[in-house]
Amino acid sequence: MSLFERSQAVAAFLQEKTKIQPQIGIILGSGLGELVDTVKIDAEIPYADIPDFPQSTVEGHAGHLLFGTLAGKQVVMMAGRFHYYEGYSMEQVTFPIRVFQQLGTETLILSNACGGMNPKYKVGDLMVIDDHINLFPEHPLRGANDDRLGIRFPDMSEPYDKKLIGLALDIAKEQGLLLHTGTYAGLSGPTFETPAEYKWLARMGADVVGMSTVPETIVARHAQMRVFAMSVITDLGGIDGHVEPITHEEVLEAANAAAPKLAALVTAMVERI
Ligand code: HPA
Repeated sequence: MSLFERSQAVAAFLQEKTKIQPQIGIILGSGLGELVDTVKIDAEIPYADIPDFPQSTVEGHAGHLLFGTLAGKQVVMMAGRFHYYEGYSMEQVTFPIRVFQQLGTETLILSNACGGMNPKYKVGDLMVIDDHINLFPEHPLRGANDDRLGIRFPDMSEPYDKKLIGLALDIAKEQGLLLHTGTYAGLSGPTFETPAEYKWLARMGADVVGMSTVPETIVARHAQMRVFAMSVITDLGGIDGHVEPITHEEVLEAANAAAPKLAALVTAMVERI
């Protein structure tokens, strides 16, 4: 079966489990599960029960798909995503986006934990992603193009929707929340960056770095969804060549601490989308 047919079959399977027709898809990053508590859940489906869905292997990523309403809107939410470093192919990493596409999802909201290079950033700050640099070793759209999914050469002049970025900045102002705007460099991991890599990333124009989000954004743009993405800065790598040692536990801890801010912002956004 083609990717189109497989994603269509999974969407049909899910539609039998819920009446929710999600206009909005939400993917929560490491330690950012707080938002789940705000959703009025209609159906909660473990990845293990979904045909063709990979299983999440990382601690801190719960691994189920939620259908429900958030701020009155019908949403589908991934609590836990698939990362390239786990060994999945790019097609597996982005398969949920194809399923969302078949479900009729028009807007995709992504979140992640990341390392910050911009000297103005502090641990626990939030950043809206307004652009990215794709440093993954494999492109999610490589291979024969299926025109039913999208065009061969997608435009990337506005990967992240400017109107949604504007809305986020307005809401942040209302909530008295410090919200940076910047560029996310996406690379495969699973190692965190060396001091020289941090310096290189900062010089090439990235404000933060992480191991997700870029593949999902590319596939969502191919699917003509609007994309909005937010990063929580969980650790810092300076352009001065100094990098504090970091563990996954510390990343999760910093993400957990910032999760309520992110949940409040995303909920207010969904309300107004
Ligand atoms: N790099 C550095 N720090 C991080 C990352 C990363 O990919 N993810 C979370 N914190």
